[in-house]
Amino acid sequence: MNVNDSDKMSEFLLQQGLERCDSCFDADMVIVNTCSVRFSAEHKAYSLLGRWKELKDKNPNLVIGVVGCMAQYASKEIKARCKYVDFVLGAKDFDNFAKTVKRFVTKRQLTVNNDRNSGCTEVFKYITIMRGCSNFCSYCIVPYVRGPEQSIDYNIISDEVKRTVDKGTKEIILLGQNVNSYDFGGVNFTGLLRKISELENVTRIRFMTNHPKDLSDELIDEIAKNKKICRHIHLPLQSGSNNILKAMNRKYTYEQYETLYEKIKNKVPDINITSDIIIGFPGETDKDFEDTFNASRKLQFGGLFVFKYSARPDTPAAKMANQVPLDVIKKRHHILLEDSNIISKKINEKYIDTTVEVLVEKYNSETKTAEARNSQSIKVFFNSEMDLTGQIVDVKITKVLPNSMSAERTQIYNAQ
Ligand code: 5AD
Ligand code: SF4
Repeated sequence: MNVNDSDKMSEFLLQQGLERCDSCFDADMVIVNTCSVRFSAEHKAYSLLGRWKELKDKNPNLVIGVVGCMAQYASKEIKARCKYVDFVLGAKDFDNFAKTVKRFVTKRQLTVNNDRNSGCTEVFKYITIMRGCSNFCSYCIVPYVRGPEQSIDYNIISDEVKRTVDKGTKEIILLGQNVNSYDFGGVNFTGLLRKISELENVTRIRFMTNHPKDLSDELIDEIAKNKKICRHIHLPLQSGSNNILKAMNRKYTYEQYETLYEKIKNKVPDINITSDIIIGFPGETDKDFEDTFNASRKLQFGGLFVFKYSARPDTPAAKMANQVPLDVIKKRHHILLEDSNIISKKINEKYIDTTVEVLVEKYNSETKTAEARNSQSIKVFFNSEMDLTGQIVDVKITKVLPNSMSAERTQIYNAQ
């Protein structure tokens, strides 16, 4: 979501005639788009702002902006701690971004280049289909900083998809905190997927993220039969313990999750299911952790993101009495991460010696390496004499690493 918001801001700045520079030392304007999901992200934002103070000391004309989720709820603190910051705009204030930037461009008399021809074809593009979240998982700050869930008009989404694919973009990634609860004018998420896949020039569609409580049979059937939909589902489990799931307000039990997981695997055998786990939610006992560990062993995710619980201001979990000590969280986190990486690597070994179709996302001309992604959303690296960025090609998998695979080129599948 943040990458998408940052892309939109960059696009706007380019349209205004500003140019991207390689180093912040050469910049007239620097903006940090913040995240507040975990404390570590906030810490990173403050250290970046600390470093930017030196830039401001050298160039008092520099415009420094702080935007995003942390700017939403901590604007006072940011302004107090970093007095040299020029503007702070929260995630809900996004509509004021254009006005604010224009004001500073005029005020500081920044040089703009109006002849610049901006906008190149992107290999993939994120498209937001809904904003906010109304689920109120007890650990999560998102509903407070991004506001309640709101689905975007499917006509607006379709138009954006059309514009994007007509420029040559091969992959569309539909974004929302809980895409499964999309609903606009009677069109649900499956309906939206159908509408989008029927559009001319749409080649590959991805979406994230899913909530197990809302993922319908209708959606699973659509994925099974619609070959434009990539074979990857990110389905956060968060915990394998029913006590913890209940305290997290996730609204499903581990058994319900497992049933759903099996159903998806049965109906879409080539799918890759990845997940999120939070370690050290308040009250997590050794037994609760064991349940989570066993769930990870049993379900065998293709990829697992393991997060250390981080108490977020104003969330119910932050006020719970039985917070888990950090050293216990670190130990459990390490155990699960190590184990799940071994599992994911083993699971992906089934691709060795098989030919897979990948979309090339990047090319490093110095090392002559292409970075691509298969339908299952696994990163694939291979050597290539040519820059194939934006093309869908066949490659043969030679080696599996914990979070990526190496391959060699076979033939061009759909070169354009
Ligand atoms: N602490 C740790 N992890 C969190 N997540 C969300 N809130 C917190 C928190 N307070 C994780 C969840 C979610 C992912 C995007 O971030 O696992 O799925
Ligand atoms: Fe946060 Fe839960 Fe909403 Fe995801 S579904 S954004 S974890 S409140």
